[in-house]
Amino acid sequence: MPNPQPSLDQITALCKRRGFIFPTSEIYGGLHNCYDYGPLGAVLLRNIRNLWWDEFITKRDDMVGLDSQIILHPQTWVSSGHVTAFTDPLVEDKVTHKRYRADHLIEAWLAKHAEEPKWQDFVVENLDNEQMAEFIKKHSIKSPEGNEVTEPKDFNILFESAIGAVTGEKSKVYLRGETAQGIFTNFKQVVDSTRVKLPFGIGQIGKSFRNEITTGQFTFRTLEFEQAEIEYFFDPEQQDWQQLFKQWQTQMWKFVNETLGVDADNLRWRQHTDQERSHYSKDTYDLDYRYSFGWKELWGIAYRTNYDLKQHSKHADQNLEYIDPQTNKKFFPHAIEPAVGVNRLALMVLTDAYWQDTANKRTVLKLKPNLAPYQVAVFPLLKNKPKLVEQAKTVYDHLKNHLAATWDERGNIGKRYLYQDEIGTPFCITIDFDTLDDESVTVRDRDTTKQERVKISQLEKYFQTKLG
Ligand code: GAP
Repeated sequence: MPNPQPSLDQITALCKRRGFIFPTSEIYGGLHNCYDYGPLGAVLLRNIRNLWWDEFITKRDDMVGLDSQIILHPQTWVSSGHVTAFTDPLVEDKVTHKRYRADHLIEAWLAKHAEEPKWQDFVVENLDNEQMAEFIKKHSIKSPEGNEVTEPKDFNILFESAIGAVTGEKSKVYLRGETAQGIFTNFKQVVDSTRVKLPFGIGQIGKSFRNEITTGQFTFRTLEFEQAEIEYFFDPEQQDWQQLFKQWQTQMWKFVNETLGVDADNLRWRQHTDQERSHYSKDTYDLDYRYSFGWKELWGIAYRTNYDLKQHSKHADQNLEYIDPQTNKKFFPHAIEPAVGVNRLALMVLTDAYWQDTANKRTVLKLKPNLAPYQVAVFPLLKNKPKLVEQAKTVYDHLKNHLAATWDERGNIGKRYLYQDEIGTPFCITIDFDTLDDESVTVRDRDTTKQERVKISQLEKYFQTKLG
């Protein structure tokens, strides 16, 4: 059985208390759906990014990386279809004029009626705007303020900006709504400048922006977020897309379950309905995670066919076809796209690792050591004993060349353990009076709280085994 899921309030409070995630610009009252990552959150994000890059780019011979711009030529978004089709169904509170997503209001209503068998298999994603309007009317669904809402209308969520400093001479641009378009627009340059041959993929990590209207899901859905996306190009006459699609699904599951250590009971696959599938996709699945607020999309995989390369070829009047080096066959490769949000991965690992250890009256983040901001914490038993501090510093200075190590001398040992448990540090090392005689230290395991004595000279080897 997986741990009982923590509430979102528990996660949010721990993130703020321990410096993982803060509401952005809090001194000015914050900004809706925007968050900053504190000292520990920044390391957690970096660890996730590095693991993703390592597994999907560095270690694969069929993948290359990319770092394209946030601001692309505005025509990109016309060609890709985002200017017309990148929309959310919005309603407006008739009194306060606040806007809400129609599908989210219906989801909240369904959550309240979850016990009724009639609604258990109901899929909101199957409804178009007209059907949502009918549903809202029939069930008298109100805004969170309790007022009537208008009928759903499509609202484009691309983020507009402008190039140019002089009013009247500014030209409209978009902050990218997905990193994927930078991959498609660079496809030909990557083929021409490197030694890639089909099948191969291009991956990149970077910020994307969407004018999202949501409330109360912490970092799950934000205006600014980071995506890690792959376009895997292949010749559909040479390879069966369904087989490739399945292989990618296996890789995605493995990354979440094994590399990030997330409980498989909290993961599931869900196929998109025809109604909800994006305009560019022939088939889409979501790898869902059981967040504190229910099963939600963590990572999508779509079969984008050759839609994007063809669109850009047509609109840019450039031939983006691939020429097979063996047969000279010219064609637009098809693409399978595994696309994940780094922030959703972070919220998932924080949720999955959260453990209320009632027996020991403590809160623990059981993060895998490859994710933990610190892998070991080093303490002198007492901070006012120079000999202990000096010995502890020697151990710390040595270990930090090999591991993510932190120093702590505040408060008593018990408090230091509780603090390190809450930030997910797998091991704590205490240098005490015996150390001065026997050159051994006490190593305490975060999850079991068991302690053992280890020789200082053996520490590096000990952690190599323990941390992998
Ligand atoms: N290129 C395809 C694409 O962008 P998507 O399902 O819209 O597909 C991919 O986004 C992933 O990006 C999602 O599975 C999710 O993890 C993340 N994501 C999307 N919108 C987000 C938002 N507003 N805040 C945080 N993460 C988001």
